[in-house]
Amino acid sequence: MSRLLLAIETSCDETAVTLFDALSYFEGKELNKCILSEQLATSAELHQAYGGVVPELAAREQTVALPPLVERALSNYKTEEIFAVAATAGPGLNGSLLVGLSYAKGLAYGKGAPLVLINHLEGHLASHELLPAPQRLRAPYVTLLVSGGHSEVILLNQDGSLKTLARTRDDAAGEAFDKSATLLGLPYPGGPALSKIAELGDKSRFDFPIGVAEDPGSFSFSGLKTAVLRQVQSLPSPLSEKDKCDLAASIQNAIIRALVSKTIPLAKATEGVFLTGGVAANQALRKELENSCKDAGLKFAAADVKYCTDNATMIGAAALTRVRRSRGEFENWKPHLGNELGPGVGFDATTRTTWFVD
Ligand code: KG4
Ligand code: ZN
Repeated sequence: MSRLLLAIETSCDETAVTLFDALSYFEGKELNKCILSEQLATSAELHQAYGGVVPELAAREQTVALPPLVERALSNYKTEEIFAVAATAGPGLNGSLLVGLSYAKGLAYGKGAPLVLINHLEGHLASHELLPAPQRLRAPYVTLLVSGGHSEVILLNQDGSLKTLARTRDDAAGEAFDKSATLLGLPYPGGPALSKIAELGDKSRFDFPIGVAEDPGSFSFSGLKTAVLRQVQSLPSPLSEKDKCDLAASIQNAIIRALVSKTIPLAKATEGVFLTGGVAANQALRKELENSCKDAGLKFAAADVKYCTDNATMIGAAALTRVRRSRGEFENWKPHLGNELGPGVGFDATTRTTWFVD
């Protein structure tokens, strides 16, 4: 009996594969209990010397990393048991997306299994489904999705439709962390490094801007970057440890204030806020948003830290929840060349570097 779903994520510098027991999920088992194997490799270290992801290098690494990860994920299972293959088709770096999607196409075609294309943002949103049932929110609720590429507030309606209520005008929150960290001389990716030393600093020492206060539908982090640069230039060089820690704490505080102050009003009249994306791994943000939700009478949930940064489990979660919603149609899908594979899916599927969820 075919029962496995294999999910692949390669939108940026991670290469990730997760194997799910799809049948158990369809029979009612909690999604997070249906995970059979999770494999993850990252080329982050390679990019450190360049201060950011080098797309060509990321894609080359993924070409090498992906096949053994799939083999490892399937090592205790028979490939005949694959029921469907899911892969991120966008948004992301095109070369990286092509590696994962092309591999997924080949595997799906070879196994005669349907191919489910997943929007990377839909994947981050689906990390909600990986929470234990008592922690999950009931629609309508908003998701604050903050990562290296995105800062969005997305409303999930009761009918399952999505609406983006706010997005960034320029840098994403993760980029704000990363670029500020570079100015402090911290290694890439700067978010985790900056948040670590922020714990030792005085967040009230520097007053950094929090972006476009007047527009409820926009975040903006480019002004912060400029303000940090000016502040760093005005301090004795090289920066003392105390200056670095105080700068980090003040930068983190400005980013958190910007995110929380925009999200809470947008969540009014919904059940609450779900926090996810790489920046959601930030403990100070989790705490601040939780407290502000409590004060506003809203529920709060956050993705498990291991599912905040890019991973294939959230991609599988998005695929399985989508398949469960349209199960009848899905069962009729047959692997053929061209558009005959199923609704909205075919082997002519291509990557999309930009792809909104609504
Ligand atoms: O979701 P993700 O893995 O990749 C994208 O889809 O972009 O997010 C990566 C981003 C990076 O900018 C990284 O610095 C940031 O998430 N990040 C953090 C923390 N952990 C990761 N930012 C702040 N605090 C953290 N603890
Ligand atoms: Zn991501």
